[in-house]
Amino acid sequence: MVGRLNWSLEVLPSAAEASRVLADRLVQLSADAIARSGRFTLAVSGGRTPADLYTLLAREYQQKIPWGATELFFADERAVPPQDDRSNFALVQRTLLSKLPAPGPRVHRIEGERSPAQAEADRYEADLRATLRGAPAGPPTDVTFDVILLGVGSDGHTASLFPGAPSLEEASRWTIVEPSPHLDPKVTRISLTMPVIRSSRKAIFLVCGDDKGPILKQVFEDPARGTLAARLPSAMVGTSEGVDWYLDSAAAPRAEAAPSA
Ligand code: 6PG
Repeated sequence: MVGRLNWSLEVLPSAAEASRVLADRLVQLSADAIARSGRFTLAVSGGRTPADLYTLLAREYQQKIPWGATELFFADERAVPPQDDRSNFALVQRTLLSKLPAPGPRVHRIEGERSPAQAEADRYEADLRATLRGAPAGPPTDVTFDVILLGVGSDGHTASLFPGAPSLEEASRWTIVEPSPHLDPKVTRISLTMPVIRSSRKAIFLVCGDDKGPILKQVFEDPARGTLAARLPSAMVGTSEGVDWYLDSAAAPRAEAAPSA
């Protein structure tokens, strides 16, 4: 167990093995969710890292996850059409959804092609509120997703919540628009807010590659010190049933060496 946000850390020799251990964990968490409520609410992320995980889920884990009883959401999306290479939906569609037999999950896509982005963020927020919680007003007051899958950018962002962005202070909305991310792809993003991420029952990070080592060191060194503006969004994630971190050894050594981890 690491840190005071109820984090657990598992370092695997390779990205493939990290994906496999994560997939096994998802099998267990989805079964727990079905037993509890008859459905599995899962939010997924984009970026490059989870592509192999999604492929694994579509192949070897196809029969192990209750896809037909799954409500699938997105942690964030880029303001591009769903066929665009930069689209998070495109990644999930190509690697996972297109490979699943019917009935697949009920997919709640952020429609990145819609303009203005704020109108789409509003629409997605209304969908989240209605599907997850019976449309309450204000910030989430109870569990939203059974599981949210997250990644970490080289600057410490997660979903599309970037360090120092005003959107990090959002306390009531469920979605935000990030108009000018400073990392590629530099297109407007729509993202879940930190209160919604933190209202997940369980958050799982998959982080691989030596380019993530330096930022993970900072994440695990607990940047809770200092002002909100100085904090790393990925270090702010804590949920009722904890946060599981799956790293490959390329990403991990510097994180493991961190004093307070
Ligand atoms: C996005 C993601 C984002 C991602 C990290 C890591 O839309 O970009 O949802 O938060 O998880 O940037 O991305 P990589 O896996 O590409 O490093």
